[in-house]
This record gives sequence, C-alpha cells and structure tokens, in this order.
Amino acid sequence: MKNTKFIVSPGGTLSGSIRVPGDKSISHRSIMLGSIADGVTRVSGFLEGEDSLATLKAFKALGVNIEGPENGNVSIHGVGLHGLKANNEALDLGNSGTSMRLMSGLLSAQKFETTLAGDSSLNQRPMKRVIDPLTQMGATIVSEDNGTAPLNIKPAGQINAIDYQLPMASAQVKSCILLAGLYASGTTTVTEPAPTRDHTERMLRGFGCEVITEKNVISLKGGQSLTATDIDVPSDISSATFFIVGAAIAKDSDIILQHVGMNPTRIGIVNIMRAMGASIEISNEKTIGGEPVADLHIVHRPLKGIHIPTDQVPLAIDEFPAIFIAAACAEGETVLTGAEELRVKESDRIQVMADGLNILGIDAESQFDGIKIQGGQLTQGEVDSHGDHRIAMSFAMAALRAQGEITINNCDNVQTSFPSFVHLAKSSGLIIREMSSE
Ligand code: S3P
Repeated sequence: MKNTKFIVSPGGTLSGSIRVPGDKSISHRSIMLGSIADGVTRVSGFLEGEDSLATLKAFKALGVNIEGPENGNVSIHGVGLHGLKANNEALDLGNSGTSMRLMSGLLSAQKFETTLAGDSSLNQRPMKRVIDPLTQMGATIVSEDNGTAPLNIKPAGQINAIDYQLPMASAQVKSCILLAGLYASGTTTVTEPAPTRDHTERMLRGFGCEVITEKNVISLKGGQSLTATDIDVPSDISSATFFIVGAAIAKDSDIILQHVGMNPTRIGIVNIMRAMGASIEISNEKTIGGEPVADLHIVHRPLKGIHIPTDQVPLAIDEFPAIFIAAACAEGETVLTGAEELRVKESDRIQVMADGLNILGIDAESQFDGIKIQGGQLTQGEVDSHGDHRIAMSFAMAALRAQGEITINNCDNVQTSFPSFVHLAKSSGLIIREMSSE
C-alpha cells in the first residue's frame, strides 16, 4: 500500500478536449468472454486499471494465453467453453466486485475447484446474492459464515437452467447467472426489477450467442459456443462523470469528452445532470461493436437541486458520489431515495459521502436508502475516501468550488478504475497534487 493523498487547491476551471480511459465493465467482460470463445479476440481501448487487470491475470492463471495489455491492446487466445484449467492457488481479485461476481458464475460450472479472494473491502461485500441463484443451479460454493468471500467453488456436477427473479437491480448478479447459464441444460431466464447495464447481453451477441431480451426478462439457452470477435472498448462514462460534474460546477469551464460509452443503461448521469440544469451537448453519435458512443460537450451553468427520479438510480448507480458534489453546489435541496445499494459498494457511499460533505460545510443528511443535500458553500478540510476510488475522485472535483484546500486520504484505489486521473485532471485545469508515503 502506498497511502496516496490528493491535495486539491480551490478554484480552477476545466477546459480542453480529452478522452478518458476504457470502460471497466466492458473491459472485464472482454477478457471473460474472449477466454471461453473459440479463436483469438482482439481488444482495443482496454482499461489498464487494477480491477480489469485482476480479471486478466486470473484468466491467465486459468490457462488462457493473453497477450498485452499494450497501449490498451489485448489479444486473448480463447480456449473454448470447456478449455479453462484448474489453478492451485486462490485467485486474488483485489478490490473488484465485478470480477468476483461474474467469475463465480463462470467458475461454478467448471469441472475443477477454484477459490476466489479479494482485498479487505471486497471480502466484506455481499456474495449471497450470487451464491443463492448459483446453488439453485446446482453449484456448490463455500463462503465465510456471513456469505462473504473468500469463495471456495467446488467442481461442478450438472448445472441446471433456472428462472430467476432478481431481488435487487444488479447487473453483476444478472451476468453471473447468464454466464453459468451458458453451461446449463435448458434455457436460463433472469427477470430484472429495473433495467441494469446490459453489456454482457450485448457482448454475448457479438460473440455469436443468442440472448433474448423481452422487456425486463433476459433468457439464454445453454450449450452455445462463442466465436472470437474484435472489441473496441468505449471510454468509461463512469470516469467521464468526474469531468462532467467538474465542468458543470466550475465557473467558465468548457470541456469536450471524446468517445464516451452512451449505452442507454448507463446514461443516468446525463439525464440527472440535465435535470439539475447542466449544459451537456451530445455529438458525433455512433455505434461501435454493439455499444453506442458519442462526444460530450459540457459548459458551466448554475445548477438547481432536484428529487432524483428513482428510475434513474440503476442507470447512474456508480455516479452518485459525483452527483452528490453537484448537489452540494446546486441551489436548493437534492433528495435521493431508492438507492440502498449504494451502501454495499466499494464503501458505504451514502455514509462516507455524507460525512465528507459535512466536514466540508455542507448540510447532508444520510437516510437508509438515500441522502438529502442542501446546496451551499463548500469550505475546506480533510476527508477520507475509505479506499473508494469514486469517492476520492468526486471530492477532488469538489475543490473547484471550495473556499480552501481539500485533502483526500486513502486514494490508492483510484488505480482500480482510472490510473491516469491525476494527470488528466491536472491537464484539464484541476489544481491537484498527489502525495504518497510508502
Ligand atoms: C457492474 C455493475 C454494478 C456497478 C459496478 C459494475 C458491472 O454493480 O456498480 O461498478 O460491471 O456489472 P451491481 O451489479 O452490484 O449494481
């Protein structure tokens, strides 16, 4: 652990034209599907962050020949649906919930045993949500008593298709079941309470699988093989978010974000910020490998507080730490409800954000499933990200509108999703310094 701190001076404006790194969700899936496909999958724009690299390393350990990443290019020599090999040691997935939940589905269906482990944050996150449906499918998974990792996945016997009603809106759980469903006899069906990111379904189709989506019901027949394909990963809208919010709150800002993934299940940030009064222009729209992308042009404009529509919550699930900063800079009150999932992310994002905003002079009150924030003047002070990458980057942007310096502790995990954040933020106009003590 390096123990990285961000020290961000007040003021600054964001400007220029930048491209943030590749989408994390799509990067993970490119390795997983490329590994079990027949043939060589070539990926460009792969996110070289710790989370997606944890997935890449894990599949190498499972016997897949993977070249790269080099400048975002990765070549995966797929081993086919049944070609993965046992690895004697536990696979270390670091901080990455996506790796653990999706891989538990895929590995539950293999004829060998695997153990999946993570860092102290990941080992506290709920895994019963994947263990329950996988057990119903015939898998055997031994967890810690409270349903947390490490997960010991026993060699699979017969994997059966299920018809599963998701108890919460979770793309990770949906994807986990679909990946296990590839190995099941019969058709696996997942019903979602609300739409969640559909990258797994889109990418499976790109690999030649038939996946049927009818309203909120997704189904897939087991035994389908995957054919290698090329994948061009768009920029991550979740990383673009820090610049969307930064430019929206900072006076005189004017920034273009290039080639951002605009999948309709991910664009809650654009809808919510526009409802708050932000100026976001979308141009150059195209579809690349089944995923929509566009350039976003954001200029500063005063924001107002809103009641965030609950149907936007799953579509902006990773963006709330940054949205709370926008709310702190808006005129009036912002209210979020129906977002209890935020409490089980890389940190309890409701509490950690409320605590940080309070330290910075903002009236923010946490509630069991959301938060109430009164717009006001951000002051200065020292906040803790609790090792949560998105909280660290959100408080960094808050300095654009603060009265004094903001110090953010525990920023190492920015490396999980956005290793070039400090460099890009600095070159766009944020007055940020990074300090590490080994
Ligand atoms: C992800 C799904 C979401 C999201 C996470 C990435 C994915 O998690 O928060 O960062 O790639 O499927 P949940 O499924 O827990 O909502």
